[in-house]
Amino acid sequence: MITTRVREAALRLSDAPTYLYDLPALRDHASAVRQALPGVELYYAVKANPDTELLKTLAEYVDGFEVSSGGEHAHVSALFPGEPGKPLALGGPGKTDAELRLPCHRLHVESPNELRRLLATGREADVLLRLNPDLPVEGAALTMSGPFGMDEAGVRECLPLFTDRVRLRGLHSHLASGLDAPRLLRLAARLLDTEYDEVNLGGGMAVSYAAPESRFDWAAYGAGLAALRRAGQRVRIEPGRALTAYCGYYVTRVVDVKRVRGEAYAIVLGGTHHLRTPVTKGHDQPFTVLPTGDGPALRDEPVTVVGQLCTPKDVFARKIGTPLRVGDTVVFEMAGAYAWNISHHDFLMHPKPGFHYLRD
Ligand SMILES: Cc1ncc(COP(=O)(O)O)c(C=O)c1O
Repeated sequence: MITTRVREAALRLSDAPTYLYDLPALRDHASAVRQALPGVELYYAVKANPDTELLKTLAEYVDGFEVSSGGEHAHVSALFPGEPGKPLALGGPGKTDAELRLPCHRLHVESPNELRRLLATGREADVLLRLNPDLPVEGAALTMSGPFGMDEAGVRECLPLFTDRVRLRGLHSHLASGLDAPRLLRLAARLLDTEYDEVNLGGGMAVSYAAPESRFDWAAYGAGLAALRRAGQRVRIEPGRALTAYCGYYVTRVVDVKRVRGEAYAIVLGGTHHLRTPVTKGHDQPFTVLPTGDGPALRDEPVTVVGQLCTPKDVFARKIGTPLRVGDTVVFEMAGAYAWNISHHDFLMHPKPGFHYLRD
């Protein structure tokens, strides 16, 4: 379901495909998230969507930004120049020496060797050690096991290396994507039960593409964290997807409909080289059809919605019972996170989408 504001804007768009961002909706959502988290520092994980307008909108509600590369660091620093700017937490596996030299509020160190290289730069830094603890993570869309961060032995190896210039501030952990509030709180209970005075609990708040109306329970999460946090402990989180997914739309148009060996297909302008999310997550991207078409139609049969790419993987949604006709406008929802910025834009050299922003 899309709002009247988005529907009217989508109908006014003359160029398809186009990304449409609802900035007032993002503002309302970010403000509600902020209010639900008293006493918790809120950073936005820029990797979810580094769009400049989104970052400027979020800046008012977040305490800082989590960046995971020199590129994200440069992008955000240029957007919020001057002292003190917006605090940055710099993370990511495999940092180069140049990245280890970048100024930041917190540096998330991923391994003992990375810490040694940081020390060798001679810079000052405030460090969180990224811990990848052996905790059970059920119900996640993606678990961050493997090369991320270090185990308890890695942390122990790091402890004697700190100096008065490279200071240990606490722990950072990002264990999984797609967890609901009770599951995240169970993990938080374990991670906050530590002698460290500062803990970054990461992101990973659940976003359901199958049931867009069911949202992460920020109020329960905020209340839970308030109960778990001990006096004097500094707690930070860095959500990405659950902040920006809902404010983005990919608006396109049906260019052809057909049946191939009994299977019905609607082909839309553009494709998953613009909106890769359904391919990476293997889901049906939710969408709304605006009946602007007057061409051939598919009705009363399941339709698979595909893009213009020459690959069978270019599928937005499979066997959906929505009537579609050539010329109809298709508004893909939940396209505000891990969408355009993770897509392979140049494959097949189709035109790039437009970008349109609702501002009030
Ligand atoms: C270290 C770290 N923090 C935060 C995030 C944001 O996660 P999400 O977008 O699921 O909230 C990620 C995502 O991969 C991450 O790797």
